[in-house]
Amino acid sequence: MNFRRSEHYKASLNCTSCHSIHRSPTPRRLLAKVQRELCYTCHPSVRAQFSMPFKHRVNEGLMDCSDCHNPHGTFAPSWKMGDRPRMVAQASVNEEACLGCHKDLRGPFVFEHTAVRVEGCETCHQPHGSANPRLLKRPVVFTLCLECHNGTGSGRSGAGVPLTPSFHNMADPQYQNCTVCHVRLHGSNSSALFLR
Ligand code: HEC
Ligand code: HEC
Ligand code: HEC
Ligand code: HEC
Ligand code: HEC
Ligand code: HEC
Ligand code: HEC
Repeated sequence: MNFRRSEHYKASLNCTSCHSIHRSPTPRRLLAKVQRELCYTCHPSVRAQFSMPFKHRVNEGLMDCSDCHNPHGTFAPSWKMGDRPRMVAQASVNEEACLGCHKDLRGPFVFEHTAVRVEGCETCHQPHGSANPRLLKRPVVFTLCLECHNGTGSGRSGAGVPLTPSFHNMADPQYQNCTVCHVRLHGSNSSALFLR
C-alpha cells in the first residue's frame, strides 16, 4: 500500500527488481536473492557498515534488513518528527523499529530523556555498525553528551539544554564516563537525572 511513497518507487524500481516470481532461490517471499545479498547489490556501502567491529549481525544471518526497514515504503515512525524516515519500519503503532527488539527501552518512563524520546536512537547510535562499543557514534561517551549539554539550544526552562554541573570535572576520568552514574540514560522511573 505504501510502495508509491517509498524511495524505491521514486527511484523507478519495480516489484521484479527484488522478486523473482517464477524461479526464486529463497524459501520464502519469492526474493530474487537471499535478502541481504539482494540489498547489497544496490547498496554496497552498507555491507562495510555491517562488517564493523561492533554491529548488528546481519551478515551472520541473525537478522535481516527488513527487521528495521520496509523496502515497500512505510509511514514514518514518530522519531525526529518523521524527518529523515529512510524507510525505517515501524515496530508497534508508529514507534521506531529498534523498540520491537529492545523492548526494555520502550517505556513510557516517568522521566523521559528528550534525546531518546524525541530525537530517536540514531542520535547517539549507528544502527548498522560502528567502530565504537555499543554502536555509539563517538568513541568516548562524554563527547556525545556534551554535544547537547553545553547550555545552548532552548531546553525546558528556556535556559538551554542543561549544562553539565560545575562539580563534573571533565579532566577527571571519573566524570568522563557519564553513564557510570547516569545509568538509566534511556529513561528512568525513579530519577529525573537518570541516576537509578
Ligand atoms: C527493494 C526490494 C523490493 C521491492 C522493489 C519490492 N519488494 Fe516485496 N519484498 C521485499 C523483501 C525483502 C521482502 C521480504 C520481507 C520479509 O522477509 O519480511 C518482500 C516481501 C513481499 C511480500 C510478502 C509479504 C510482506 O509484505 O512481507 C509481498 C506480497 C511482496 N513483497 C510484494 C511486492 C510487490 C507487489 C512489489 C511491487 C509493488 C514489491 N514487493 C516490491 C523486497 C522488495
Ligand atoms: C535494484 C536496486 C536496489 C535494490 C535491490 C534495493 N535498493 Fe534500496 N534503493 C535503491 C535506490 C536507487 C534508492 C534511492 C537512491 C538512494 O537513496 O540510494 C534506494 C533507497 C533505499 C533506502 C533509502 C535511502 C535514503 O537515503 O533515504 C533504503 C533504506 C533502502 N534503499 C533499503 C533497501 C533494502 C533494505 C533493500 C533490500 C530489501 C534494498 N534497499 C534493495 C536501489 C535498490
Ligand atoms: C538495526 C536496524 C537496521 C538494520 C538491521 C538495517 N538498517 Fe539500514 N538504517 C537503519 C536506520 C535507523 C537508518 C537511518 C539512519 C539515519 O537516518 O541516520 C538506516 C539507514 C539506511 C540507509 C540510508 C542511509 C545510508 O547509510 O546510506 C540505507 C541505504 C540502509 N539503511 C540500508 C540497509 C540495508 C541494505 C540493510 C541490510 C543489509 C539495512 N539497512 C539494515 C536501521 C537498520
Ligand atoms: C530484530 C531485532 C533487533 C532490532 C530491530 C534492533 N536490534 Fe539492536 N540488537 C539486537 C541484538 C540481538 C543485539 C545483540 C548483539 C549481537 O547481535 O551481537 C543488539 C545489539 C544492539 C546494541 C549493542 C548492545 C551492546 O550491549 O553492545 C545497540 C546499541 C543496539 N542494538 C541498538 C539498536 C538500535 C538503535 C536499533 C534500531 C535502529 C536496534 N538496535 C534494532 C537486536 C535488534
Ligand atoms: C543520548 C544518547 C542515546 C540515545 C538517544 C540512545 N542511546 Fe542507547 N546508549 C547510549 C549510551 C551512552 C550507551 C552506553 C551505556 C553504557 O556504556 O553503559 C547506550 C547503550 C545502549 C544499549 C546497550 C546497553 C543497554 O543499556 O541495554 C542498547 C541496546 C541501546 N543503547 C539501545 C538504544 C535504543 C533502542 C535507543 C532508542 C530507543 C537508544 N539506545 C537511544 C546512548 C544513547
Ligand atoms: C541530542 C541531544 C542530547 C544528547 C546527545 C544528550 N542529551 Fe541529555 N538531555 C537532552 C535534553 C533536550 C534534555 C532535557 C532538557 C530539558 O528538559 O530542559 C536532557 C536531559 C538530561 C538530563 C536531566 C537533566 C535535568 O535537569 O532534568 C540528564 C542527567 C542528561 N540529559 C544526561 C545526559 C547524558 C549523560 C548524555 C550522554 C550519554 C546525554 N544526556 C546526551 C539532550 C541531550
Ligand atoms: C560520579 C557520578 C557522575 C558522573 C560520572 C556524571 N554525573 Fe552528571 N550528575 C551527577 C549527580 C549526582 C547529579 C545531580 C547533582 C545535583 O543534585 O545537583 C548530576 C547532574 C547532572 C545534570 C543535571 C544538571 C542540571 O542542572 O539539572 C546533567 C545535565 C549531568 N549531570 C550530565 C552529565 C554528563 C554529560 C556527564 C558526563 C560528562 C555526567 N553527568 C557524569 C553525577 C554524575
